[in-house]
Amino acid sequence: MKQNNVPVITIDGPSGAGKGTICQMLANRLGWHLLDSGVLYRVLACEALRQQVSLQDAQAVAKLAQNVNIRFVSKDARELARVYLNNADVTDEVRAEATGKLASKISAFPEVRKVLLELQQNFRQMPGLVADGRDMGTVVFVDAAAKVYLTASPETRVKRRRTQLLAQGIDAKLSSLTDELAARDARDSDRAISPMKPADDAITVDTTGLSIEAVFDRVWQIVQHRVDHQGD
Ligand code: DC
Repeated sequence: MKQNNVPVITIDGPSGAGKGTICQMLANRLGWHLLDSGVLYRVLACEALRQQVSLQDAQAVAKLAQNVNIRFVSKDARELARVYLNNADVTDEVRAEATGKLASKISAFPEVRKVLLELQQNFRQMPGLVADGRDMGTVVFVDAAAKVYLTASPETRVKRRRTQLLAQGIDAKLSSLTDELAARDARDSDRAISPMKPADDAITVDTTGLSIEAVFDRVWQIVQHRVDHQGD
């Protein structure tokens, strides 16, 4: 494994569990790099649409993955990074609800995951990395210093997603968001390769009913404890 002296913290879990915000806070507090791995699958789905590559064609999508140039650009560390694909700003398209669904579909292809594995591992740079995803602790960074699995009730996750969309001026129906979330959870957990699940050595935090600050305090405790006791 490359560069395994660079510390990594993995935060996995379903959408709406609070991973994005917590990872951003953690990376800011530690002064570490941040990898939002879901964005890689999302960008690839967008690129397949743009190049009119069939989203059912695993080989063709994997080939695209070999040639994409993805950059994250953040002017202010507290804000979500903007995403560039081959020098075009694709942030809004990438973060759209429909893109999440397509990303989930292509993420079930082993060929695609294989190409993205190395790309993700290249984000492991000094002084450290906070990695957000579904399989960060189980597959991509198995030797991470601390692994957290964030979850929350489906109702809570749907409400959070609705609030995020409203902030972007999108008024999505609760019922359709609920159906989408259930379908995505099932697809991500039931796929044969790298299914979404906690690593054996991950600590699960249920964020239902907790404020962001409370979740961050809990995750921070876990990280400090794990980092202090590494190798015990
Ligand atoms: O976290 P997100 O909503 O941006 O992820 C979009 C989809 O990408 C998700 O439904 C499944 C896939 N994904 C994955 O398979 N593995 C990851 N590490 C991250 C995301």
